[in-house]
Amino acid sequence: MIERELSLWFLRVVEEAAIEAAKTMGMGDRELADRAAVEAMRRVMDTVPMNGTVVIGEGERDEAPMLFIGEKVGRGSEESPEVDIAVDPLEGTNLCATGAANAITVIAASEKGGLLHAPDCYMEKIIVGPEGRGAMDLDAPVKDNLRRLARHLDREVKDLVVVVLERPRHQKLIADIRAAGARIRLIGDGDLSAGISAAVHGTGVHAVMGSGGAPEGVLTAAALRCLNGDMLARLVIDTPELRERVQQMGIPDPEMVFTSKELAPGRHLLFAATGVTDGNLLRGVRFFGDGIRTHSLVLTQAAGKVRFVDSIHLDRRSEVSIRL
Ligand code: FBP
Repeated sequence: MIERELSLWFLRVVEEAAIEAAKTMGMGDRELADRAAVEAMRRVMDTVPMNGTVVIGEGERDEAPMLFIGEKVGRGSEESPEVDIAVDPLEGTNLCATGAANAITVIAASEKGGLLHAPDCYMEKIIVGPEGRGAMDLDAPVKDNLRRLARHLDREVKDLVVVVLERPRHQKLIADIRAAGARIRLIGDGDLSAGISAAVHGTGVHAVMGSGGAPEGVLTAAALRCLNGDMLARLVIDTPELRERVQQMGIPDPEMVFTSKELAPGRHLLFAATGVTDGNLLRGVRFFGDGIRTHSLVLTQAAGKVRFVDSIHLDRRSEVSIRL
């Protein structure tokens, strides 16, 4: 199973990307932060014994020097597994550049064809945790969805927290959530890490609503499938060119509502993320003396493992004392 063979390798990929991105935290330079993560991710990925193909990455071949869609990655031999790879080397470039919460590095993988090749457009999303399964309908009024979600979670609507990206396009959604009586956490960026949080008790997130990146949506779906969460999504097709492109990509109905299983249909899904800045799911990278500490999440769907990994990296120097 690819997830058994590759999970520790992928942990290294996201850890190294997070360490390099975290060194740029607060410098106010989102491009520098992203480049640091991309270069580190690519460098480590090329040591992984796999024949990988990037299906979600930094953009098309002519837009991105590394980790572009279609790029072959890994140092596979004939016996190594063929895997499709989705990456978001730094989810929340602005969050890292300003030192704000919840920047993470992310990779997901599956057997061939296990991750939707989503175009780089927006996607409407509703994301909830395991108890919220079946409560939501992408076309239902916000108040009805929240009422049903509250019932599923055995609480009142006023006790729900919904995360929404703070964007002008979400004005009506925000007004509707307020009118329904739920609480809102507006975020500057990072609906992927918020989506994972919705599936983890204790993060204080009960749902994520609104539109964000489609590539982030596929990565969220891969994580949710490992965490038993639920997601409904629809591509936002706003130009004839995009409509044509989506059809060329083999999506017959551009208006279709995707479930997490349709976004990430793989039977062997692997997902790994490391915190760059402190967040409500993962701690950020901590530098202390000559050591570095990272906090990651590694999920394997078929093997049914959810691993929170607290790593102390002493590879850079030797005389460091370890603290719990
Ligand atoms: P970057 O990490 O590429 O900056 O993207 C962050 C993000 O906030 C995603 O979490 C979200 O899906 C998307 O951007 C929203 O896009 P926009 O900023 O155009 O509303």
